[in-house]
Amino acid sequence: MKKIYTIIDLQKTLANERKGEKKLGFVPTMGALHQGHLELVNQSVKENDISVVSIFVNPTQFNDKNDLLKYPRNLDADCKLLEKAGDVIVFAPDVKEIYPEPDMRQFNFGHLAAVMEGQFRPGHFNGVAQVVSKLFDIVKPDKAYFGEKDFQQLVIIRELVKQLSLGIQVVACPIVREKDGLAMSSRNTQLTVEQRKAAVIISQTLFESKNRKNNYPVKSLKSWVVNRINVVPDFKVEYFDIVDGFTLRSIYKWEDTEYPVGCIAAFAGNVRLIDNIFY
Ligand code: PAF
Repeated sequence: MKKIYTIIDLQKTLANERKGEKKLGFVPTMGALHQGHLELVNQSVKENDISVVSIFVNPTQFNDKNDLLKYPRNLDADCKLLEKAGDVIVFAPDVKEIYPEPDMRQFNFGHLAAVMEGQFRPGHFNGVAQVVSKLFDIVKPDKAYFGEKDFQQLVIIRELVKQLSLGIQVVACPIVREKDGLAMSSRNTQLTVEQRKAAVIISQTLFESKNRKNNYPVKSLKSWVVNRINVVPDFKVEYFDIVDGFTLRSIYKWEDTEYPVGCIAAFAGNVRLIDNIFY
């Protein structure tokens, strides 16, 4: 594992290692790595000659300053985990390296970025697009790996790649879950012991909603999910919607789409968790 902090050093290293037809895989992360990230890294290592993992907590995608301050950071622990993952290049720039001046770019993803996360975290996807487009330009990968837990982000990254004609293959990797079903997330470490135990309600409800799909109209199933989570003390659903997985438009009848995805954001105390399920 090689650790690199500057764009110039990364580009020198890649120019050196990438001679010929070598394939480059890229896993962008904000650190606080867990098994979900490691699955992305493993897949990249398997499918490419060189893998770059970026660790950068991107300030422009946080609409809440407190959330940015609280975001877990531990580069040494992350690097230890990555050492076990194989021969990867870790790119860990500081904020000035990525944003030597403020990024004024405004992306337009239309409806894709206006709903769900976009509605409740204004500016979030613009910030994601700013940093991911910069990282893509710096790393110039053949393939980039993203987790399906951030389903809306994945759809928007595909759109970004299309809008900018980047020719990068976006690879989606399935959600990795804890033994009890909770989707792995860097934010899980912020849960109290009680919240952590109770947080199983989110995935459990999503799984059960899938079993109920054939017996419930879409609208009733949406209410059932929200009510089942909201009765748990300290838990509050911010949104739950069942959308077409390509357009992210809400569906009203199951026949509206062949690709229904249920997406949820819920608070456990102050900790915001997201998850989703393919019906
Ligand atoms: O999913 C994340 O961790 C971040 O949104 C990403 C893609 C690394 C951009 O900062």
